[in-house]
Amino acid sequence: MPELERIPEEHIYRAYGIYLLTSQHRLIRRLKRLYEPSIHGNKAWRSSFLLMDYLLHNPPQRGVRVMELGCGWGPGAVFCARRFKARVTAVDLDGNVFPYLEVISALNDVKVAPLESNFNNLSAQCLGREHLLIGSDICFWDSMIKPLFDVVERALEGGAKRFVIADPGRPTFYELADRCQKQNWRVTLREWYAVEPSRTTGEILEVRP
Ligand SMILES: C[S@@+](CC[C@H](N)C(=O)[O-])C[C@H]1O[C@@H](n2cnc3c(N)ncnc32)[C@H](O)[C@@H]1O
Repeated sequence: MPELERIPEEHIYRAYGIYLLTSQHRLIRRLKRLYEPSIHGNKAWRSSFLLMDYLLHNPPQRGVRVMELGCGWGPGAVFCARRFKARVTAVDLDGNVFPYLEVISALNDVKVAPLESNFNNLSAQCLGREHLLIGSDICFWDSMIKPLFDVVERALEGGAKRFVIADPGRPTFYELADRCQKQNWRVTLREWYAVEPSRTTGEILEVRP
């Protein structure tokens, strides 16, 4: 168990060594008046804590290049920058998430490069420059399964070494995992749990070439 740390302000919490804000925090309330994420990028989703826990147990080397796909507020991106000193790019289709990413990055004293893009449009070359690709709760519609599978394929073709996706266990995610398992890749699908900020369970899909 981590040491108990008193946080001197309301609506800030800590998980896996990073600080996060609830939607009641005054900065978030202010941002909400100006920027309204429209594809669910409106909080740190619970799957992001599964991703953090998994990476803590299966860490990348310090300083590697990491790209978070469908970053939202970027909890996974900020965690990798903070914990592994990773050089992180955070990708989202919805430009309205980036002010939140900026606040969470600043709160944790890290820099994360934002990239406004549909991850389905990223080339093999762009994806393959990254050592590790991560995502949490990014496969929630049927229409996302095939394009996301193609992203995994392009990333591995391009030279990426690991692709890790966390999910609460949606049917769409299992369909993606099934498709990956049919390829000649090293694929693991594991039930996982996280204990911070509170206990949560889900699944981790890891794909390696
Ligand atoms: C459920 S949220 C998860 C956010 C973050 N990963 C987390 O765990 O807190 C899904 C995010 O994926 C983004 N997204 C959905 N489809 C996308 C696409 N095709 N390309 C890039 N981002 C996408 C949404 O804008 C949203 O921010």
